[in-house]
Amino acid sequence: MDKFLWGGATASYQCEGAWDEDGKVESMWDRYLHDENLENGDVASDHYHRFEEDIRMMKEGGQNSYRFSLSWPRIIRNREGDVNEKGIAFYKKLLATCHEYGIEPFVTLYHWDLPQYWEDTGGWLDHGVCDAFAHFAKVCFDNFGDQVTYWTTFNEPKWFVVNGYFIGNYPPCLHDVQKTMIAAYNVMYASALGVKVFREGGYKGEIGVVHSYTPIDGVDDTIETQIAMRNADNYSNNWVLDTAVLGEFPIDLITRLSKDYDISFIKAEELRIIKKFTVDYIGLNYYARALVKPYTTGETQLIFNHTGKKGESKILIKNWFEQVKDPNSEFTQWDTEIYPKGLQDGLLKAYKKYNVPIYVTENGVGVREDVSVDQVNDDYRISFMNDHINALMNARDMGADIRGYYAWSSFDLYSWKNGHEKRYGLVAVDFKNGLVRKPKASYYWFKDVITSKGEII
Ligand code: NOJ
Repeated sequence: MDKFLWGGATASYQCEGAWDEDGKVESMWDRYLHDENLENGDVASDHYHRFEEDIRMMKEGGQNSYRFSLSWPRIIRNREGDVNEKGIAFYKKLLATCHEYGIEPFVTLYHWDLPQYWEDTGGWLDHGVCDAFAHFAKVCFDNFGDQVTYWTTFNEPKWFVVNGYFIGNYPPCLHDVQKTMIAAYNVMYASALGVKVFREGGYKGEIGVVHSYTPIDGVDDTIETQIAMRNADNYSNNWVLDTAVLGEFPIDLITRLSKDYDISFIKAEELRIIKKFTVDYIGLNYYARALVKPYTTGETQLIFNHTGKKGESKILIKNWFEQVKDPNSEFTQWDTEIYPKGLQDGLLKAYKKYNVPIYVTENGVGVREDVSVDQVNDDYRISFMNDHINALMNARDMGADIRGYYAWSSFDLYSWKNGHEKRYGLVAVDFKNGLVRKPKASYYWFKDVITSKGEII
């Protein structure tokens, strides 16, 4: 078996900067943040120009892998699918640098930066985007296939679909259940098409999907709570993982939605493709679980973060479940529960259900930090990661096939609607002062963990 992968993760829009350089065209996030005059990723961590330094630091930090994404609008110039050779050259250099330093690349095709030329006609609501994604995937496999073993179709379908079409805090900022369903379907179909292109092209390596995993706990054992848990699991996890791994949307979810919404966009021929082209592995991003109880009030409430402040969104589907806060838990500055046991339970549950290798593709804590000091002493991050790595190891010891752990994030990044103030990095980036990089205490601690555990497989 291959070595255990230890590293950090990033995403193109959140770290590259160079938003309009070397032929890169606009993404939906460029357009949205510019139009709304919000903090944006025009420069971000300037990884586009500093990737060599960043990858060298990964190596010096004992890491053996780097999870990052490719920017579709940097690679494909237009709806006709023409390739931007400078974009290809950039990623070839980045990948070559990874190999030079002995860092295994773990590459995501789509981490939310849809080209604006697709958003112009509805983005994930425009079915044509699915074939366009398949074309983009093929261009990537053809150009980078000899440099990449680990491929991911999509990062967190749930997060960008739900936030974009349902909660409305990400572009295109809609609150529409029917459109959420269509976008969700198109994304999962596009993911299967990506797998199809990969299999049919005979490329080497593994292909999977990365999911924002929310293991579900109930407040008690009653039947009502179990029903609420199933609803929460369908909403949070099953429509991504069942579809990607088992090749089927959860039937009870579809039945339920079909009572109130039009599901005629689901096509038998496409379901056959989804059934046939399933993934090799799953990547699970774990931040917290959800504790749920049966629906009792007018509307289910979910708390989410909006430009750094706590906000509330009323979820529009009634009678499903309600999420509650565990009074005994600790919470982060962004009100996310800190619950390492959820990772252990969740990994065991996911492995039992899906029986495919699992990588923990993101885990970390977002904090406001003063990075003007010589070294950020992020003992809270050390303790967070320590407890979660232990939870992962417990799940491994109990038989789950876990093959990697990635801290979110390798270095400080632009954090979507939280701008630059929510920091997750193992390495501090001083966004106000020349983008200087300085390892935090957690970077050295992580190095020791990797050294002591070794390549444990
Ligand atoms: C999930 C996403 O993959 C990433 O883009 C985001 O910044 C982190 N989690 C932190 O919220």
